[in-house]
Amino acid sequence: MRYKHSDYMHWSKTQSRARFNLATSGVAPFPLRELPVDLKELEINGDNSYGYAPLQQAIAAHHGVDPESVVESAGTSMANHLAMAAIIELGDEVLIEHPAYGPILDIAHYIEANVKRFRRAEENGWAIDPAEVRRCVTAKTRLIVITNLHNPTSALTPESVLREIGDIARSIGAFVLVDEVYLDAVYEETPRTAFHLGPEFVVTSSLTKVYGVSGLRCGWILAQPDLAWKMRRLNDLFSATPVFPGELFSVAAFNHLNLLRETARRIVEADRDLLRDFLAQQSTISAVWTDWGTTSFLRLSRDRGSNADVFLERLRSEFDTSAVPGRFFEMPDHFRIGMGMNTEMFAEGLNQIGRALR
Ligand SMILES: Cc1ncc(COP(=O)(O)O)c(C=O)c1O
Repeated sequence: MRYKHSDYMHWSKTQSRARFNLATSGVAPFPLRELPVDLKELEINGDNSYGYAPLQQAIAAHHGVDPESVVESAGTSMANHLAMAAIIELGDEVLIEHPAYGPILDIAHYIEANVKRFRRAEENGWAIDPAEVRRCVTAKTRLIVITNLHNPTSALTPESVLREIGDIARSIGAFVLVDEVYLDAVYEETPRTAFHLGPEFVVTSSLTKVYGVSGLRCGWILAQPDLAWKMRRLNDLFSATPVFPGELFSVAAFNHLNLLRETARRIVEADRDLLRDFLAQQSTISAVWTDWGTTSFLRLSRDRGSNADVFLERLRSEFDTSAVPGRFFEMPDHFRIGMGMNTEMFAEGLNQIGRALR
């Protein structure tokens, strides 16, 4: 039977709530009342058959690319789906990082790609090792998929490594899909998009995680113009045209992107400071430290058992605190926590984790 669901998304929508909710990945919602926008200028319908030109221009300007290379999509979720479905043909292999964000794997299975994996090793700081990628590609590899920053660990892949991955892809006629939904959470010297590194790069992103306007579902793909058209035509089968008021609000969000980003940044940085202090005091959990990102992937030490599920169930039922089980990233002895929502809640969530560990 064809694969038609995502266990992670279902869990996230139905099981992740708690008083101290650390099962998040994006920053706090940005309130409409704080966005300088004239509601009288909003409209319900408008000219947006294959995207709303001012929004495509705003996305293009944000990345320094041509609007012809911008495909609007419903979040990074649909962006990943369109990108993979447009590129992969029957019998093609897709090489996906491990650990991976569950829905990326789910999409690959849904479109019946032949899924292969390459490992990012914890002992190597979760970095991508190009030699490992080279070992895992074959003549049938059509697409290599990575996230940057990496979900769940927030590891940052430098441009030099991205270039090596691009070289590998080019040598076998494959593409590299880089999901950059967390990249703008690198608040200093923010790397440019990998799209600039060569025609084999396809990039997906959105305003959902780093900017606090997830409800707009403003996502996009960056691809070479011919491939971009393939994706727009494919989207005709799914969501047809975008939601026009959402596009107007998204343009307003782009006009004030720094305000949105800096508002969230204060919370993310305060939470990261708390996490640093917390981890320094713990002997039974550890994490590869990252300077950026809204998530951290914690490992339970062996004497706590090799399965975080039991711990997380107790954490939720007895301490009203949630985190994402590592099994959704195929690493059951880990769990993921999120920063950037609310620093008081984050502090109390860490406190409850500490209590549950004692
Ligand atoms: C790596 C990654 N890609 C895509 C998404 C989905 O993002 P969006 O809400 O923009 O659809 C997420 C959400 O958690 C994610 O972590």
